[in-house]
Amino acid sequence: MLDKFNREINYLRVSITDRCNLHCSYCRPKEGISLQGHDDILRYEEIIRIVSVAVKMGLVKVRVTGGEPLVRKGFVNFIAELKKIDGLQDISLTTNGILLEEFAQNIFDAGICRINISLDSLNKDKYSRITNGGDLDAVLRGIARAEEVGFAPIKINTVAIKGFNDDEALDFARLAADKPFQVRFIELMPVGKTNLDYGEDYMPTSQLIDKIRQSYKLEQIKNKKNKSDGPAKIYKIKGGRGEIGFINPVSDHFCSTCNRLRLTSDGKLRVCLLNEKEVDLKTALRENCSDAELEKLFWDAVLLKPKQHDLICTENSLKKCRNMSAIGG
Ligand code: GTP
Ligand code: 5AD
Repeated sequence: MLDKFNREINYLRVSITDRCNLHCSYCRPKEGISLQGHDDILRYEEIIRIVSVAVKMGLVKVRVTGGEPLVRKGFVNFIAELKKIDGLQDISLTTNGILLEEFAQNIFDAGICRINISLDSLNKDKYSRITNGGDLDAVLRGIARAEEVGFAPIKINTVAIKGFNDDEALDFARLAADKPFQVRFIELMPVGKTNLDYGEDYMPTSQLIDKIRQSYKLEQIKNKKNKSDGPAKIYKIKGGRGEIGFINPVSDHFCSTCNRLRLTSDGKLRVCLLNEKEVDLKTALRENCSDAELEKLFWDAVLLKPKQHDLICTENSLKKCRNMSAIGG
């Protein structure tokens, strides 16, 4: 699937629920969120059908996201069904890690081998604060279990928040030096309702790399190992086991290499994380559309993809958009 700007669209991020067992300040604040109803959410069979059609059109990679995907019942079986789709080469998961200790083995056996875990602080109190009550120890146990089970790579996502976790840059770098993990700092994006003040709390990740370089020698990995690697700029820590990455959607956006669409849990194909254009698949599915009609809707979405996001200019309108928890990052 080639879009109007000659980008090959072969990656679908699938949000299977907008529910989550955490309330991270920048993603899903406790107050004022409305949750999708049971009938609004795509059934697993509907998602499988959508992915099967998209694979015939050239999709090779699916990342399952939420909310928190592991809170949806039947998750492991869903992965096993995804795994059966011929031609789907890569199934990965983004999770907050709270339930990972319990599920790691089953999801690995079902066919996921790449896992990204959100972790914004290594300090128990701060973690509880940013997540509104989350238990850091549960996540650390989940990460340890994921390592034991054999997930590779394991990526840790840390949203860079000024005055909150910038003082932990070296602690995260140490984690990447000691463990075979890729720790990625992500620039805060102003999406939906949040409990943060974007103007105050955003920081470019360049400030973190400067801090880390004072203690660690970093070597940029020039050629990405494979085409499906995401938007992170990745560095090897000299003498360490893991890597450090920086995802800079604000200071250095990567739209020219964007290869993705997003499927929301209520059945919309979203053409860009930071753009409100969506194509409704659910209505068509529930009116028994043919595969050809689904394909046509996919093409509509591909052709609607904007050349780039316009983050700064549309900051106010982004506040009115879906919460990140209903998009899946
Ligand atoms: P892999 O590289 O396959 O590990 O996946 P990923 O980095 O795309 O997935 P992950 O769910 O870990 O996302 C990491 C961060 O990158 C999240 O904060 C996403 O919101 C951000 N991100 C991913 N894709 C895009 C995108 O298309 N546009 C923007 N602006 N940000 C994105
Ligand atoms: N800005 C940047 N990253 C975010 N994520 C969620 N909300 C935001 C935001 N407003 C990250 C999460 C998760 C990934 C999928 O998206 O930390 O790791």
